[in-house]
Amino acid sequence: MKKYKHISVLLNESIENLKIKSDGIYIDSTFGCGGHSKIILSKLGKKGKLFSLDRDPESINIANNIKDSRFKILNLNFSNLYKINLNGKINGILFDLGLSSIQLDNPNRGFSFINDGILDMRMNQKIGNSAIDWLNNSNIKEMCHVFKKFGEERFSKRISKAIYKYNKIKPITRTKELSNLVKLNCSKFYDTKHPATRIFQAIRIYINNEIEEIKNGLKHSLKLLSSKGRLCIISFHSLEDRVVKNFIKFNSSKFKSLGKIKPSLIEIKKNIRARSAILRIAEKI
Ligand SMILES: C[S@@+](CC[C@H](N)C(=O)[O-])C[C@H]1O[C@@H](n2cnc3c(N)ncnc32)[C@H](O)[C@@H]1O
Repeated sequence: MKKYKHISVLLNESIENLKIKSDGIYIDSTFGCGGHSKIILSKLGKKGKLFSLDRDPESINIANNIKDSRFKILNLNFSNLYKINLNGKINGILFDLGLSSIQLDNPNRGFSFINDGILDMRMNQKIGNSAIDWLNNSNIKEMCHVFKKFGEERFSKRISKAIYKYNKIKPITRTKELSNLVKLNCSKFYDTKHPATRIFQAIRIYINNEIEEIKNGLKHSLKLLSSKGRLCIISFHSLEDRVVKNFIKFNSSKFKSLGKIKPSLIEIKKNIRARSAILRIAEKI
């Protein structure tokens, strides 16, 4: 398998705020390439335990190389976090939302509009419909709804119509086909961001049911955490952060908010993918 280098975002800040006890039990809900998991493990003593999960089988393959009796990798979605079945016993849970480099940097996973590849976009390619299937079976109204809701895209209708028309002649199957089509139809309205940014974000969130997944993961975390257990969540766009912020706010009788941290300019300079990250921290009461 090709090696992708993932630079973990807000690594020190999130680990520090998990307040790791050497004999504690922790969950890394987003193993990715293992950046956070490896540091958590290094801080645990003999009696500590780390459960990590990821929905992406490629991440599971990486995790399977870690031979450590204190570590368990689970190929689960956030919605299945309850299967860990240790309610009230977990000392800290981390969510590093978004995509790993294995997903972003492989053009054939379909997440990037920069390099050409198959328009797949599933975090687990063994389950569900790809972006190709969805785009080719949707009508203008459906596409418009998804682009507005998950991409907050101003030109949703114009773009949906263009995709629908294009699909009638030749089904879209490649990332570049989609990004060029979006660019052709609304580049004059954009100056800084690539015009396809919001459309790719919207399709990805929809295909992977990301918002519901986060809501369910947070709900299960509430039950899993022990008193004084820490919840650290790194989000990468406003839709994600809104869900996290509201969850902490609505559960203020069970969680004490410990604020938010953004990456330093030095981190952003080293890793441009960190630029939109926000880490929110809460402690179970
Ligand atoms: C930003 S990466 C994590 C990177 C990791 N912290 C590191 O340092 O290597 C996010 C990971 O979360 C996984 N993920 C996203 N949503 C998920 C969900 N609902 N259930 C399980 N895993 C999910 C993705 O497959 C991806 O591997």
